[in-house]
Amino acid sequence: MRADRIHSVEHARRLARRILPRVVFDYIDGGAEDEVTMAANVQAFREIALRPRMAMKVPRPDLATTVLGTPLRLPVLLAPCGLTRLMHPEGAAGAARAAGAAGTVSILSTVAGTAPEDLSGIAGPRWFQLYAADRDTAVALIDRAGAAGFGGLMVTVDTPALGKRERDLRNGVAPPLRLDARSAIRLGSQVLSRPRWTASMGLAGVKFKRRSATNPPGSGPSPSFPNPLSPAGKVAMGASPFSWDDVSWLRSRWTGPLVVKGVMSGDDAALAADAGADCVVVSNHGGRQLEGAPATIRVLPEVVEAAGKRVAVLVDGGVRRGADVVKAMALGACAVLIGRPYLYGLAIAGQAGVERILAILEEEMERTLILMGCPGLGELDGSWLQPT
Ligand SMILES: Cc1cc2nc3c(=O)[nH]c(=O)nc-3n(C[C@H](O)[C@H](O)[C@H](O)COP(=O)(O)O)c2cc1C
Repeated sequence: MRADRIHSVEHARRLARRILPRVVFDYIDGGAEDEVTMAANVQAFREIALRPRMAMKVPRPDLATTVLGTPLRLPVLLAPCGLTRLMHPEGAAGAARAAGAAGTVSILSTVAGTAPEDLSGIAGPRWFQLYAADRDTAVALIDRAGAAGFGGLMVTVDTPALGKRERDLRNGVAPPLRLDARSAIRLGSQVLSRPRWTASMGLAGVKFKRRSATNPPGSGPSPSFPNPLSPAGKVAMGASPFSWDDVSWLRSRWTGPLVVKGVMSGDDAALAADAGADCVVVSNHGGRQLEGAPATIRVLPEVVEAAGKRVAVLVDGGVRRGADVVKAMALGACAVLIGRPYLYGLAIAGQAGVERILAILEEEMERTLILMGCPGLGELDGSWLQPT
């Protein structure tokens, strides 16, 4: 499908639902338990109103910014996401190319299904997101990420256990999903009813051979990239129990920017700063982990207040419009991350689909700022939001 047919993130979601087997769409689209936190992320952005100033005659706003010393053309980063090669054969490589073309950062998940080495030829800034069950695994992974040219290290701290994702349970799969003959049979009619996806995966399967979709192509230096089907990999998928001591220890091992993802209070943001982090991401994992956690945009002001002078603050969860990015930045975020929006684009058209999603958000941001009478991102603060 042509990427230029997509006209909004929600439209991309509907198109992706038509293309993907239900089991894969639900893996992307679903959240934990009753999906209350997941829905709250989106709803909370809708409840924040903008406060425009009229007759300002603003020029076309510049969306460029700098995050952790990296200049970005767009303040929208691609969040780390697992199993991206189930969505499209290009997987994380397609997403990284799209981020590079749009002038932003892509973040490779430990369990993306693509090895760090496989992105080394792709232009653009990249960070590596770490899951690890123990320090030996962590060292092996971050050494590989550093050698493969990843500038930033992101540690996800909200995954001491895996959230209860009931759509996956209802579909008869518990992560990690596999793309092999046995699982194809299990997915049965779902797969056959999506011939385009099946054909593209079949062609890609020539390359996968009999490996799981979560195995990296190519051979990285030993010790190998953790296969989530191995005992160690299962732990990494299901439980990555980092403590603040571990974060301090990682700080001593990693010389580049260190980002802590999954902070949901001012107190934890201060602890992350104490542990040596350069940046925190206010995140509830897109509502996929702790059901009952608040919407991230509601927590952002507390985190900015507690630690915004010591660390850069990013936020993710529920960003679906350019106006949402504007709202997050007015509340003190340096930039946002998106997860599902770019995965829908990836599913539809690979790299081109992700580029299209980023272009849509960019255009919406520009239009929003012009309609608000705001000359640029640097001017944004709470005065551009309607008091509640
Ligand atoms: C399919 C999927 C897989 C994800 N895998 C990871 C992961 O491997 N590591 C991680 O830190 N976060 C992961 N996340 C969470 C995202 O990084 C991000 O926090 C979340 O998607 C943001 O919410 P949004 O989808 O509403 O934009 C995943 C999210 C989705 C939707």
